[in-house]
Amino acid sequence: DTIEIEGIPLIDLSLSHTTDINLLVSEIGNACKNWGFFQVINHGVPLELLEKIKVAAKAFFDQPVEEKRKVKRDEVNAMGYHESEHTKNVRDWKEVFDFLIKDPSFLPASPETEDDEIRTLSNQWPETPPQFSLLMLVREVCQTYAREVEKLGYKLLELISLSLGLPSNRLNGYFEDHTTMMRLNHYPPCPCPELALGVGRHKDAGALTIVAQDDVGGLQVRRKSDEVWVPVKPTPNALVINVGDTIQVWSNEAYESVEHRVVVNSERERFSIPVFFFPSHYVMVKPLEELVNEGNPPKYKPYNFGKFFVARNRSDYKKLEVQNIQISDFKII
Ligand code: OGA
Ligand code: NI
Repeated sequence: DTIEIEGIPLIDLSLSHTTDINLLVSEIGNACKNWGFFQVINHGVPLELLEKIKVAAKAFFDQPVEEKRKVKRDEVNAMGYHESEHTKNVRDWKEVFDFLIKDPSFLPASPETEDDEIRTLSNQWPETPPQFSLLMLVREVCQTYAREVEKLGYKLLELISLSLGLPSNRLNGYFEDHTTMMRLNHYPPCPCPELALGVGRHKDAGALTIVAQDDVGGLQVRRKSDEVWVPVKPTPNALVINVGDTIQVWSNEAYESVEHRVVVNSERERFSIPVFFFPSHYVMVKPLEELVNEGNPPKYKPYNFGKFFVARNRSDYKKLEVQNIQISDFKII
């Protein structure tokens, strides 16, 4: 069921002398608590860059598939182009290009607890034949955009910390060697949109996701109050923010990671550009001590972020026999 109703909150991040930081902090807190999703404007990411990144995404995917396959992702090198992503063991109607903000980044080599080998991940960029001047810009625009969104990510983590009654820098230490990844998504038009999803229903595994989308629409959020799928209306100059699993655990469920999906369209292709804020691989994720007490005991057992992440991503390439690992596996009943 999908209906057109009141959308997710729209929050203006600009602080003028008339706006009180406490007001902004409480708006963010309420949006995280009631929706897990909101949009922001005046977010500090230059608007011309927001336009350029959509052009860059189109330029990348417009290449012939043989070119895109030259930077193909696989189970060893997880960064690059991928045309058959799975969400919860179902094939998605999209193609993607992934890269790290910190290049290289480090993750466990396998999900096995006894294996302590660390793998170095690095980016693959399309080689640019000189005649493709646009493609030459893809890499540059991606990197510049990623750096701007990284700044916004820290700003949001600080506002979220404050909204939980914590010092603004409380979460920063978990991101020293962050494994944050940016993705270009292309959802081609689909001849049978009622039979496929661009991305199946899922929750994001990281701390925070920041998404730029074009004007086509298709992203939907499962509203907490009644579980209705609510469309996230494309809003000029805005970015979509959602809370991921890690914040759900840190906040001991004060904030929840909310399910979302992308429906496809029979006429128009759609581009979206998420940045997934992931902590350093060695971080043990658990409810923050300041937020638990006798009356509100920890709801999760600690888990290693890197191991969790690697285990989850195993299903990107194949259908597994069983549901993949989820944070509910660490829930204390
Ligand atoms: C995702 C996602 C939303 C979108 O990639 O995790 O939810 O609008 N994407 O593409
Ligand atoms: Ni998502």
